[in-house]
Amino acid sequence: MIFQKEPVITIDGASGTGKGTVSQVLASRLGWKFLDSGALYRVLALAAQKHGVVLDNEKALKVLGEHLDVQFIAQESEISKIILEGEDVTDVIRTEKIGNAASIVAALPAVRASLLSRQRAFRDVPGLVADGRDMGTVVFPDAELKIFLIASPEERALRRYNQLKERGISVTLSDLIKELRERDRRDQERAVAPLKPAEDAVRIDTDHLSVEQVVERILFEIKQKKAFPATSFPITIEFVEMGIAE
Ligand code: C5P
Repeated sequence: MIFQKEPVITIDGASGTGKGTVSQVLASRLGWKFLDSGALYRVLALAAQKHGVVLDNEKALKVLGEHLDVQFIAQESEISKIILEGEDVTDVIRTEKIGNAASIVAALPAVRASLLSRQRAFRDVPGLVADGRDMGTVVFPDAELKIFLIASPEERALRRYNQLKERGISVTLSDLIKELRERDRRDQERAVAPLKPAEDAVRIDTDHLSVEQVVERILFEIKQKKAFPATSFPITIEFVEMGIAE
């Protein structure tokens, strides 16, 4: 088999389905690059706030997206540091407020277009795990493997609640469920790149699965596909022995 481009695994789903953690663990298990596309929309929303751009000014947001001065600095066994205009915004972009603002700007077609090539530039050797909403449908339609994660709103809100509590941020569960539903509605109903599984995506219901179990399930799918060359897995040589790579 001849591979024209670096292989990609896309992991899409609504917020709280666990896709961020699953994608990071998978990328590190495979020794692959990782794209957190949601972080790009969050950084853009933060940049808009910083520069006084209102969230419905599509033209100005498009320009901001095209010129976004953002860096993702990979760190060993930790999440990447995210630097906006020289400032570390890794934690600042994780608030519910920025998440909601991100979903508002993400509904604008010109904004999505302005971030497209930046996302595709993450495709690199030996491979890429791309986490988002439209990774399998729009950004990497030629991905070798597409995963779509599902979880009930209650389970997703509970996961988010525990995450925020761990970080000392206090919210109520009922507020979180309300916000999740609102964000889902915006993500699913927007005209461009709405949240939906690609036709060829493998759907995994994560409600009763741990992160490790979801990762194992995806590794199983990789094995089933046999679509990846052995050179795609530099740090997991045993993959070849397990029959996961050819
Ligand atoms: O995944 P995360 O919660 O960080 O994403 C924030 C928001 O960015 C989402 O609610 C969604 O509206 C938007 N987004 C998107 N397309 C992506 C990733 C995120 O529209 N590929």
